Amino acid sequence: MKLNEYLQSNATLVDEYLSRKLRFPSAPSSLEEAMRYGSIGGGKKVRASLLFAAGEGFSLDPESLLPLAGGIEMIHSFSLVHDDLPCMDDDDYRRGKPSLHRAFGESMGVLAGDAMLIEGFRFFLSDTVFLSKFGEKTVLSLTNTLLDALGTEGMVGGQVLDLEAEEKTVSRDTVHHIMRMKTAALIRACVVCGALAGRGDEEELMLLSEFGRLLGECFQLKDDILDLTASSHILGKTAGKDVAQEKATLIRIEGMEEARDALSSTFQKALSYLGRIERSFPRLRELSCFIVERKK
Ligand code: IPE
Ligand code: IPE
Ligand code: MG
Ligand code: MG
Ligand code: MG
Repeated sequence: MKLNEYLQSNATLVDEYLSRKLRFPSAPSSLEEAMRYGSIGGGKKVRASLLFAAGEGFSLDPESLLPLAGGIEMIHSFSLVHDDLPCMDDDDYRRGKPSLHRAFGESMGVLAGDAMLIEGFRFFLSDTVFLSKFGEKTVLSLTNTLLDALGTEGMVGGQVLDLEAEEKTVSRDTVHHIMRMKTAALIRACVVCGALAGRGDEEELMLLSEFGRLLGECFQLKDDILDLTASSHILGKTAGKDVAQEKATLIRIEGMEEARDALSSTFQKALSYLGRIERSFPRLRELSCFIVERKK
C-alpha cells in the first residue's frame, strides 16, 4: 500500500469508529452534534497513523489499537477546537469549514472541547476488548503517557507559553521549548503508546521516545512554515495567522532559511534514533517523511 492509501485507510477507519462511538442518547443533542462536527472528517489523522505505524513494528494490527487511536484523535481535535477560540488563536476556519465556535457559538466551543477530551479517554478505558487484550497495567501506562503529554507540563502548558510569548522577543531555546510542549509531547506519546502496547523493551521505548519528540518538533516547524507558504484553501485553516499574531516561531526570530535548516537537521536526528532500533519500522519512516514534506 502506498503511503497516501495508508493514510486514507487509517482516516476512514478512525472516522468510522468516531461516527459509531459518538452517540450519547442522554446528552443534549446540540452537544453531540458539535462533538461530531469537531472530530469526524477533515483531519489528516497523523497521530492515529503514528500509533498504528509504531504498533506495526511490534506486529500489532490497527484494529486492535482503534479505541486508543480514536480517543487520541478526538483528544487532538479538542485541542484544535480550543486553540481556535476567540480567547486563543481566534481562528474562524478549520479543516475546510467554519471552526466549531463559529458554527455552534463560543460556549459550545468550550464545552464540546471539554467533552471531547473526557470522552476521548473513555473510548479506550471503557472498552472491555481493548482492556483484556492489553491488560490493565499496560492500559494504565498508556493513560499516564497521554496524561503527561496533554497536561500542565505538556500540551496545555505549551499552549499557555505560546499565548504568553505572542508579541514578545523570545530566544530560540524558548521557541523549541514551546514546540516540545504544545505539539511534540502528544506526537511523542502516540509513538510511545505503540511501543507500550507492543511491549517494547526499555531501550526501544527510550529510542522511540527520542524519535517521537524530535518528529513532533518537525511537525510544528513544518506547520509554521506552511502557515507562511501555503494558502488557506489548501490548508483548510487560515494561513498567515502566525505573523498577524506575532507568534513565537523560529521563522519570526531567525527567518525562513533557518527554520528550514532546523527542520532538516531535526529530522535527520529523529531518523538516527529510529535507525538505532533493531526492529524495523518502515511505515513509521515513511510517515516521518510525509510529516516534513507535506503540503498541508
Ligand atoms: C494541527 O495539527 C495542530 C498542530 C499541532 C500544529 P494537524 O495538522 O495534525 O491537524 P489535522 O488533525 O490534520 O486537522
Ligand atoms: C497548535 O498550534 C498546537 C495545539 C496544541 C493545538 P497552532 O496554533 O500553530 O495550530 P494551528 O496552525 O492553529 O492548527
Ligand atoms: Mg495555537
Ligand atoms: Mg492555532
Ligand atoms: Mg499553526
